[in-house]
Amino acid sequence: MKKEFKTRMTSPSRRDFIRKSSLVGVAATLGTAPRVVGAVTAPQKPKSVGPIVISSRNGSDSVLKAMEIIQSGADALDAVVAGVNLVEEDPNDTSVGYGGLPNADGIVQLDAAVMHGPTGRAGSVACIEGIKYPSKIAQLVLERTDHVNLVGKGAQEFAVMHGYPVENLLTEKARKLWVRWRETLSSKDEYLPPHDPSEKDIGSLYDPVKRHWGTIHCSAIDLAGNISSVTTTSGLAFKIPGRVGDSPIIGAGLYCDNEVGAAGSTGRGEANLENLASFLIVERMREGDTPEAACLYACQRIADHTRVGHLLDDNGRPNFNVQFYALNAQGEVGGAEIWGGKGKFAAANADGGFLVDLAALYTR
Ligand code: GLY
Repeated sequence: MKKEFKTRMTSPSRRDFIRKSSLVGVAATLGTAPRVVGAVTAPQKPKSVGPIVISSRNGSDSVLKAMEIIQSGADALDAVVAGVNLVEEDPNDTSVGYGGLPNADGIVQLDAAVMHGPTGRAGSVACIEGIKYPSKIAQLVLERTDHVNLVGKGAQEFAVMHGYPVENLLTEKARKLWVRWRETLSSKDEYLPPHDPSEKDIGSLYDPVKRHWGTIHCSAIDLAGNISSVTTTSGLAFKIPGRVGDSPIIGAGLYCDNEVGAAGSTGRGEANLENLASFLIVERMREGDTPEAACLYACQRIADHTRVGHLLDDNGRPNFNVQFYALNAQGEVGGAEIWGGKGKFAAANADGGFLVDLAALYTR
């Protein structure tokens, strides 16, 4: 079994990914988390639940990489950061790191955050330019400063101080997509003219259904049973310069509690920022929700709190999407999205990688 896993790890590819249609093999064998009455009583952490890694769908190679590192005895934080580095350095992923789509001025500005369960510490960078691996810098903020968040020029200077080169992150592919966006700009930006909150058509707003929201989230439990998380992104494509999304905000783009579990998000960051959904998911799990139920709860919270006309469809439902991914300290995994039915996320355990269905609040 181990040998087969190692083979997959050395040359991970999407074809090698074992597909599973649900939580079979993870949650089913581990049982349901005990319901705990009262948010102050944390569930007892089992001695060993076996290692597990989860990620958004674009992290099918990342979960295998992270699992390989965990199997060597590493801390979950080092593992998840190394996992997402694969996507950060991939020029073909236009939603994360190098190759990510730029802001409205054609500049790639990156956001990333990490959280380390055993110490309860967090680190993040926002609007960092020219640094290929923002997740590594977020980890350095956690480990080598007494701060949590560094932004912009200060974040870049901190990275340079630690030996990271400033590079041009704008690939030709991303530059051409930006030029195309500029050339068809009129109805596709985030500047809003004066309007009534109930107005549906306010002229200059982009189509939120079709807009490009990338990002990768990855959480893991290591061999010692410790939990850590990372989220990294180039953020909303062609965003207003200086826009900070949910990814680098602790409690929004990710949250991790070593005694309870971890959660993270991709999709429309503004909705997540206004609901601190990753923190909400972890707190729901603390009270006994399964990871999937907690993620669905967060989707419903966002739907309930979305009230402005231009973000609602004709039936009063959000016209955008957000995805959540979670694991609990018992090793159960689950995820949900506002709009779906066919969505999946990536996971890996000691036997290899697999895909898990995302539950959906609404289906089309
Ligand atoms: N969720 C990624 C972003 O909105 O920036």
